Amino acid sequence: MPLATTTEAGVPIQGPSATLIYDDWYPALRTDRLRRKKLVTAMLLGIPLVLGRRADGRVFALRDSCPHRGIPLSVGWFDGNRVTCRYHGWEFEPCGGQCQLIPSLTSEDKLDATRIYATAFPCEERDGHAWVYVPGAGSGRRTSTALPAVPELRKFGPRYRAAFLTAHLPCNVDHGIIGLMDPAHGPFVHQAWWWRSRASIREKTKRFEPIPEGFRMSAHAPSGNSAPYKLLGVYGQPVETTIDFVLPNRRTEIIRCGDKWFSSLTTVTPVTASTCRIDVVAAWNVFYRVPFVTPIAKFFGAKFVRQDQVTMIQQAEGLKHNPSLMLIDDADKPAKWYFALKQARLEGSSKHPMDGAVELHWRS
Ligand code: FES
Ligand SMILES: [Fe+2]
Repeated sequence: MPLATTTEAGVPIQGPSATLIYDDWYPALRTDRLRRKKLVTAMLLGIPLVLGRRADGRVFALRDSCPHRGIPLSVGWFDGNRVTCRYHGWEFEPCGGQCQLIPSLTSEDKLDATRIYATAFPCEERDGHAWVYVPGAGSGRRTSTALPAVPELRKFGPRYRAAFLTAHLPCNVDHGIIGLMDPAHGPFVHQAWWWRSRASIREKTKRFEPIPEGFRMSAHAPSGNSAPYKLLGVYGQPVETTIDFVLPNRRTEIIRCGDKWFSSLTTVTPVTASTCRIDVVAAWNVFYRVPFVTPIAKFFGAKFVRQDQVTMIQQAEGLKHNPSLMLIDDADKPAKWYFALKQARLEGSSKHPMDGAVELHWRS
């Protein structure tokens, strides 16, 4: 199924856009793509970026635009230490963006090249993601020191296996996120023999509590009607799951059973105001000694993410026409909290939509 939705004339139709949250960390791309002397482009919140890895191992992200005349820096050269613009050869140190050389200057010139900067974004490597801090327009150059902590997948020991999945979604970040937290689509979208069947729908009660800029589905024994959780039960100890959502876009799920654990971090990142990308990083020490667990987990995980992706491609067809939509109780309550939390963040207020723990009920 094609990702781009087009008119009969082949012109792409943009779905409705979302307001974006700046001044936070977003994953731009996987750092295994950043090899020696290579420049790789990415798009975050509609901003074109060029990323690379310096000879000393540090990753960097620059706006993919030369401050001189705007040609993409990604079409230039990178020797492992400096990015050279293809047009007039200005050279930039890529982590801070400082210009080091303007080849056309003569001894007559008063211009100090080092006072010129390409736009560099704070960029850090965690869990194989290149996380980029995207400041709001006009907030000036930022250094990594005064920023919130770089998001990181929680791990509960030094020995684990890990996997990564990604999918582009043709809808805006809000739809991506509420799809991620929506408890009622499971039996319909993720119907499969190895997961669960529609016939297994039953009433659920889940306790939610407020956490800073988000909410937590309190530790609970996971649904008895889903196969992967049944598999975890083989260890014969109680299984506990905690799911957190925090702004701007992060869902973490932690499953613990004695000293066995599974941990995942899922993010829905705005690529542009009307499209997004879902990334999942996961680590576990469950079945640590069983061979082939990583490819098997990847296979099932990929199917799962693909099911969400296909559904959102279909949804995008409908959203092109800007229909009015609804959020219902209680299954859409997390989506309502998300919108309220986002609104508070955009207004710079610390208002939280929950004033304490609540129980939600739905059938799934
Ligand atoms: S446009 Fe980059 S050096 Fe002139
Ligand atoms: Fe889903």
